[in-house]
Amino acid sequence: MKEQLENIYKNAMAEIEKISNINEVEEIRANYLSRKGQLNEIKKGLKDLSDEDKKIVGSLANKISQDLEIALKEKFDIFYKKELDEKLANERIDVTLSGKFVPQGKIHPLTSTIEEITSIFQTLGFSVTPTEFSPEVETEYYNFDMLNVPKDHPARDVQDTFYTTVAPNVVLRSQTSDAQIRSMEGKNPPIRIIAPGRVYRNENINARKNNFFHQIEGLYVDKGITFGDLKGVLNEFIRIYFGESRPTRFRNSFFPFTEPSAEVDVQCIMCHGKGCRTCSGTGWLEVLGAGMVDPNVLKGVGIDPDVYSGFAFGMGVERLAMLKYAIDDIRLFFNNDERFLKQF
Ligand code: DAH
Repeated sequence: MKEQLENIYKNAMAEIEKISNINEVEEIRANYLSRKGQLNEIKKGLKDLSDEDKKIVGSLANKISQDLEIALKEKFDIFYKKELDEKLANERIDVTLSGKFVPQGKIHPLTSTIEEITSIFQTLGFSVTPTEFSPEVETEYYNFDMLNVPKDHPARDVQDTFYTTVAPNVVLRSQTSDAQIRSMEGKNPPIRIIAPGRVYRNENINARKNNFFHQIEGLYVDKGITFGDLKGVLNEFIRIYFGESRPTRFRNSFFPFTEPSAEVDVQCIMCHGKGCRTCSGTGWLEVLGAGMVDPNVLKGVGIDPDVYSGFAFGMGVERLAMLKYAIDDIRLFFNNDERFLKQF
């Protein structure tokens, strides 16, 4: 056995001497040192030897294993470095090659407008509702009934609102005001939220109207909220969004879910108040609707209108973006023409 071992050692060392690449290192290791390798085969025979021989042959076998390991490692290091050097030399990067053009993506102007408006209201203490508070496929109950919109109101007409075939009374919501109801139901004031989202209306599409667009709804309910709070918050929003130099005005109006109601106008960006086609000659453009939450709406969601009051508002995102950037056609937002989108 000793002789066998010495032969194995001699053969292995001779083979190792001739190694010319890394693969051969692994082949030789497998052949001699692996579980099924030649050395292990011999070690299996140790059990038949006398105790004394076992010791001698065993330690010789171990010594041979170690020596082969060391010799193989040496070869491995040499060829590993050699192959790495060759690879590095061949794969040198040519820094003079011209680069590949990767067009840079941009945030859509509607998304950035929503983000901008949202963050203004966040600094004023409003938080954004979870998206499940304002689903785009909505029931008439949330879109109209709970908002005090009478059954015969023209907004409910199929001429104005898209009805679905999903189930009776299921509509594509026509306003984000549904989020008001979902934010109040089962909750106790103070409630101070904004809810951005997409709404749908059965419109003839033209430069000013599309059959879907975006709104941001706001609601603040607590003890002692007044119209003064409404004006303060909305004036502050407009000042931050449009800058100091854009005159605004509050006009009385009507919405079923607010009493009293108002509309807020901003001076026309196209003609600076002189009157033009965009503002139909008035010099003003409406940017949002607002008002004090109607007591009926509060009652409907179980909030006592004798204890609490609140204000609400709703604004059109496209409108606000068009007014800020002097965009004269709402359809530009949805055509995905890069020449338009690149400007933001
Ligand atoms: N929902 C109204 C619309 O789509 C906008 C609006 C008006 C929202 C007054 C409000 C509000 O919250 O108080 O025209």
